[in-house]
Amino acid sequence: MARKPIIAGNWKMNNNIAATRQLVSELIPVVADAVCDVVICTPYTSLAAAVEACKGTNIHVGAENVHWAEKGAFTGEISADMLVELGVEYVIIGHSERRTYFGETDLTVNKRMKAALAKGLKVILCVGETLEEREAGITAEVVRRQTKIAFAGIDNEELDNVVIAYEPVWAIGTGKTATSQDANDTIAIIRACMAELYCPRCAEERVRIQYGGSMNAKNASELMAMPQIDGGLIGGASLKAEDFGKVIHF
Ligand code: PGA
Repeated sequence: MARKPIIAGNWKMNNNIAATRQLVSELIPVVADAVCDVVICTPYTSLAAAVEACKGTNIHVGAENVHWAEKGAFTGEISADMLVELGVEYVIIGHSERRTYFGETDLTVNKRMKAALAKGLKVILCVGETLEEREAGITAEVVRRQTKIAFAGIDNEELDNVVIAYEPVWAIGTGKTATSQDANDTIAIIRACMAELYCPRCAEERVRIQYGGSMNAKNASELMAMPQIDGGLIGGASLKAEDFGKVIHF
């Protein structure tokens, strides 16, 4: 059984409501015939507009984070129920910008994963090494640790609801892409880790692993041609319909 490719845009802190409506209206015709799953992850304030604008299309909407508690004294946070109520389907968890600037740890990533899955959201889990870690030769250890802790306590049945995004931190927003071979090799390490945690067949057939980090219209086809790479998490190149359309049609 072939793994269906999935391309997701990570808008980060870009696009207010008006810009969201505009970009979605441009995207709809461009991605209508996509053979992959198409997702856009928007800021919280644009989610309702995105869900409304994407109704009846092949574009799925995701958030960029979620808190693990159902409710309570967590100023500035958003619960899974709140996202589900809006009609949001996906959520990015553990993005390196969250880990680097906002103190997210492997443990908080795991808590957020469990809460999101329990409420029926599909998770895009980000893992990836920093430049120092790569240069120290510990990429494999880092992505294995991040993967193992993220999936602690998560049942086999949930695997169809998780996509992993391998995003080397040094490649995000820098214009530096991992070579397709490097990306493929590290994704193979993550897949082997999932085989150990669950089963070889689960990892082979049910776990989709994206590459992310300066993936764009120019390099998408080479990356997507690699056997381990099942899609992309796209930052900068997801902000223009033409660019995102080219990535979608890798
Ligand atoms: P980039 O971002 O495509 O702009 O490098 C990717 C990401 O951070 O998800």
